[in-house]
Amino acid sequence: MTDLATLETDIQAAIARAENIGHLEEIRIAALGKKGSISALLKTLGQMSNEERLIQGPLINGLKDKITQAIETRKAQFSREAMRERLISETIDVTLPSLPQASNQGRMHPIPQVIEDMSFIFADMGFAIAEGPDIETDFYNFTALNIPEAHPARQMHDTFYFEPDDKGNRLLLRTHTSPVQIRTMENGKPPFRFIAPGRTYRCDSDRTHTPMFHQIEGLAIDKHIHLGHLKWVLETFLARFFELDNMSLRLRPSYFPFTEPSMEVDIQCSRAHGTLQIGKGTDWMEVLGCGMVHPQVLKNVGLDPELWQGFAFGLGVDRLTMLKYGIDDLRAFFDADLRWLKHYGFSPLYMPHLAKANLAGGGA
Ligand code: DAH
Repeated sequence: MTDLATLETDIQAAIARAENIGHLEEIRIAALGKKGSISALLKTLGQMSNEERLIQGPLINGLKDKITQAIETRKAQFSREAMRERLISETIDVTLPSLPQASNQGRMHPIPQVIEDMSFIFADMGFAIAEGPDIETDFYNFTALNIPEAHPARQMHDTFYFEPDDKGNRLLLRTHTSPVQIRTMENGKPPFRFIAPGRTYRCDSDRTHTPMFHQIEGLAIDKHIHLGHLKWVLETFLARFFELDNMSLRLRPSYFPFTEPSMEVDIQCSRAHGTLQIGKGTDWMEVLGCGMVHPQVLKNVGLDPELWQGFAFGLGVDRLTMLKYGIDDLRAFFDADLRWLKHYGFSPLYMPHLAKANLAGGGA
């Protein structure tokens, strides 16, 4: 029979020599595995006489325990060493300065930045921000806005339609942000004062049109709102947006099914010497549509037009961005050209503020 003391010395020596967890595992299997040396000894217990087993049993089991313990201890030692090595190799020197321009590498695309700036100006005038889905129903995009079936205005919108469902109903990509007027009024109680920025879609593409573009809808409903309020809001907004002391507007009669009266708004500009300057000169440029909300639209959301009235407007974000920053091709917004973005994009640390804008108009 193997001398237990010699076996123990050999195994303990092997454990001490083990260079890594892998070695240690080999040693464990050689001693305690199914065919291991200690396991073989344990099997011999069965053939022993009772007296012999009483002596050998505790000795062999004791050896098993000692070796198991020694392996565990060595294992723990290995994992402590591994952890120490990892900590040393992964040390980060937090005292290192950050790369000089790291925080200034990327650029914000002008469109989301301008939407942020515009929202900031309107929020300062007390407008909340509302949202609606890009995929709309015919009802919200047209019918509820007083554009019934077969109305010529539907053709003007070059709508992207989805496949009709079993009942012949077709969803569509909203052609304007005006449906958010309806959704927000349906879900709330007057008075209302909000803007709704978002994506809009029309089947159109050239230098001044892209199939996807951005609008900001505005709506104010209360008991005594009149055209003068609308004009003040638009003048104040446009002056602040273009960072001018004041802004002359020209309101031209127009037609939208959801407003009565309806107007198109032009801003004063100069095109002298081939450069466009906003806020001076004798030319005019159209920038948005607006009007007093049509009584039928109010009825469609359950409001009594004898009690409630207000104004609405819809402005093109992309166009106003082009005007403010001298961008002459609308399609550049969607080209993902990094050189363009470096030039026209905004620093990620830029925050909208009104410090430069004209605040003389006072609070709303
Ligand atoms: N929804 C119109 C369009 O996309 C823009 C518009 C005009 C919105 C007049 C309004 C409005 O709220 O009053 O052409």
